[in-house]
Amino acid sequence: MKKHKILVTGGTGYIGSHTSVELIQAGYELVIIDNLSNSSEKVLSGIESITGTKPEFIQLDMRDEALMKQVFESHPDISACIHFAALKAVGESHEKPLEYYDNNLKSLLNLLKFFPEHHPVKIVFSSSCTVYGNPDELPVSEQSPIKPAMSPYGNTKRIAEEILQDYVSSTKAACIALRYFNPIGAHPSGIIGELPQGVPNNLMPFITQTALGVRETLQIFGKDYDTPDGTCVRDYIDVLDLAKAHVIALERILNKNQETNYEFFNLGTGKGVSVLEMVNHFQDVTAQKLNYKFAPRRAGDVPSVYADTTKANQILGWKAEKSIAETIANAWKWEMNYRKQENHEK
Ligand code: NAD
Ligand code: UFG
Repeated sequence: MKKHKILVTGGTGYIGSHTSVELIQAGYELVIIDNLSNSSEKVLSGIESITGTKPEFIQLDMRDEALMKQVFESHPDISACIHFAALKAVGESHEKPLEYYDNNLKSLLNLLKFFPEHHPVKIVFSSSCTVYGNPDELPVSEQSPIKPAMSPYGNTKRIAEEILQDYVSSTKAACIALRYFNPIGAHPSGIIGELPQGVPNNLMPFITQTALGVRETLQIFGKDYDTPDGTCVRDYIDVLDLAKAHVIALERILNKNQETNYEFFNLGTGKGVSVLEMVNHFQDVTAQKLNYKFAPRRAGDVPSVYADTTKANQILGWKAEKSIAETIANAWKWEMNYRKQENHEK
């Protein structure tokens, strides 16, 4: 059977690269597009060492209409797209809201605009649990109301979902929006992982960098939340489990198995883990002592959010499988490998 050709936008990024590995291993042919604003071309060699296949790569900014048009003209056989490309730093989005709206929304609009006319758009979209804002009830199910976003970044996800819903309802397009909770971890090979630029905003890379001495001390933002130990609670989902869900969603679209042309699913573990628990898990799994101190609350943080994953379990037949210990061990392996390689290159 001829392999489907899949466009992966943002495919050199963190979640995009892990999903690309899973897609190649599932037999798909890929075209990756990325402007490398938050990733490196070296990731392609990582994908190649894991899978034995180097995917086709085009460096471009998705906001560029002419270049996006060209991608589809030169690849008329693209069957579907997984759209990861976006700016994603919550804090930065407060400082540069227009950049976030411009980048995240224009990229999506160009994708929809230039998708080949001869077959309808099929798209798996990277959404986020930020669409639920500060939820009234936990765990958060897909029936939970969409709430005002806590950041311009979160708002781009809410608006993007609305654009996709409107588009799907007026065309023959099909879309699945995947609402990720907190992706962490790395490929078990230690060859690809999360590589934030500069000082990490997210907890896991801050922990691994602190343990290696790249950062001095982890600050735990807030210890007086209304949670069991006073620190914020999140649902940390392994990046490889997340990647596998994309392959399932893609197949659901390609095989026309959707119940409606616009579907959305929560992707998490269903378990809440506090910041302090995460620190303790890390110390147990890696036998590393972590320097940490308590600091004031971080603006925009919600106290607690974790997923009800029943819908994804029942309809997609997907379930997070990795234990938190396995996920932390993979993140740690990746960080150590990466720093070793970096020192070697100096
Ligand atoms: P990432 O920054 O590692 O990957 C995104 C990629 O998109 C990067 O490689 C970047 O260079 C590229 N990109 C950005 N703007 C572009 C543009 N205009 N044209 C071409 N390429 C562009 O981020 P990630 O963690 O892999 O996230 C992937 C997707 O998942 C994003 O849409 C993000 O908003 C969403 N998401 C991420 C998280 C998370 O915690 N990581 C949580 C929920 C949702
Ligand atoms: N935290 C610390 N110290 C740090 C970093 C984080 O205490 O140095 C705490 C935060 O205050 C929060 C928890 O760790 O309580 C998790 O923070 P992250 O920044 O790792 O994750 P967020 O839940 O804030 O947001 C993440 C992504 C968003 C995404 C969202 C939902 O950054 O892009 O998950 O998917 F939208």
